[in-house]
Amino acid sequence: MRKTIIVSNRLPVKMMEQDGEYVLQASEGGLATGLGSIYREGNNIWIGWPGQEISDSKEQEKITAQLRQMNLMPVFLTEEEINNFYEGFSNETLWPVFHYMSVYARYEQVYWDAYYQVNKKFRDIVLSVAEQGDTIWVQDYQLLLLPGMIRAEMPEISIGFFQHIPFPSFELFRLIPWRAEILEGMLGADLMGFHTFDDTRYFLEAVNRLLSAKTTANVVNYNDRAIVVETFPMGIDDKKYGELGQDPQVLSNIQQLKDTFKTEKMILSIDRLDYSKGILQRLHAFELLLQMYPEYVGKVVLYMIVVPSRDSVPQYKQLREDIDRKVGHINAKFRTLSWHPVQYFYRSFPMEMLSALYNFADICLVTPMRDGMNLVSKEYVASRNNNDGVLILSEMAGASKELIDAIIVNPNNIGSIMTAIMEAVNMPLDDQQRRMKAMRQVVSKFNIHHWVKLFMDRLQEVNTMQQNMLAR
Ligand code: F6P
Repeated sequence: MRKTIIVSNRLPVKMMEQDGEYVLQASEGGLATGLGSIYREGNNIWIGWPGQEISDSKEQEKITAQLRQMNLMPVFLTEEEINNFYEGFSNETLWPVFHYMSVYARYEQVYWDAYYQVNKKFRDIVLSVAEQGDTIWVQDYQLLLLPGMIRAEMPEISIGFFQHIPFPSFELFRLIPWRAEILEGMLGADLMGFHTFDDTRYFLEAVNRLLSAKTTANVVNYNDRAIVVETFPMGIDDKKYGELGQDPQVLSNIQQLKDTFKTEKMILSIDRLDYSKGILQRLHAFELLLQMYPEYVGKVVLYMIVVPSRDSVPQYKQLREDIDRKVGHINAKFRTLSWHPVQYFYRSFPMEMLSALYNFADICLVTPMRDGMNLVSKEYVASRNNNDGVLILSEMAGASKELIDAIIVNPNNIGSIMTAIMEAVNMPLDDQQRRMKAMRQVVSKFNIHHWVKLFMDRLQEVNTMQQNMLAR
């Protein structure tokens, strides 16, 4: 029977060490939900890293057996691979360049070598299960070489690739010393997907200029193969967020928030710790508001959740310290006996609390400097069953191309973020509802299930097209 193989850096579950034992924790991420309907079916498989360094071979065998029961297959990474492949090339080279922060990028040969070797490690595991007729769907920037590596061994197999982060414009991408190898790796796929038309366009331009590959509209002709490159904006499981609003635990959390914030308007900010998210700029804008318009003192609260991430990468450590300092500064400067301007949390929250916050917050402030899509903005919209609330969204987030009824801001323009906050705080209810209803329609129609189906159907069409071309 033909199967589908999903490959991503992380599995949709994480191994956690508890009292000397490894326990599994399911991921609540959008991708895990969307692809859940695929990998759990029949003999389909999801291949990826279980998120922990597990070196003991007995332990590895035990975990592999446990995961295989769930249609999952682990790729174990050594400490050195985690340092050089994951933290190194993926997050200190590709991540900053692809997010237009090239000054943070490090171009280390040892990182590249590890990236190449780990992509090969993934390839070997894919090849150990792949058969002719199967479909392979590779996810994201950690595995850019994988499509090409699989193609070299299985020329006829169907391969899709989707990139979840931006693809930068040519002048940025060309900075990477191994740029040609990266593009060749990606072109091993039959269908490549990006979140926005700009990402798609930049990829096509890079291929055209760096590989001199012939591109016609959205098709690349390379090594006697036709590769289709298209835009598939990723959605979320909107129903889940709508329904969570009725969950008893969520309702009780909402009540608690109501009791705590009786008179203030809540501005919600939720991100992973990352310099691409514009967290400091957001704090600056909030500080400017309190400074220039003291009538907002005591009236608004910035509820800021920063989820720990990649904390051994130097820039992330530095950012954490800068946020701590800035929050401390704002609170020290503006707080009163009964009011704290910034409620700051550096940890992850359970879904029931996130949902309560999405339901309760008057405003959601999402101002990344650059973001592939940004699912927080869509989760806020999907949670607003009453059609009220205001979304302030950066024009640098992929989501801004769809959620055009948000207040759209340039995240570098601190004054405009401040003005947007004032506009949001004072927005009449009917205006809020008009905008929110329009955004909810988009989020509901183009949800995660729609995204998965669109990509998989298109991959099949592309394969049929290629077979017809060969038959001619
Ligand atoms: O946005 C890209 C992405 O890889 C997501 O898929 C993931 O949720 C996030 O970045 C964090 O990635 P990680 O913790 O694996 O570095």
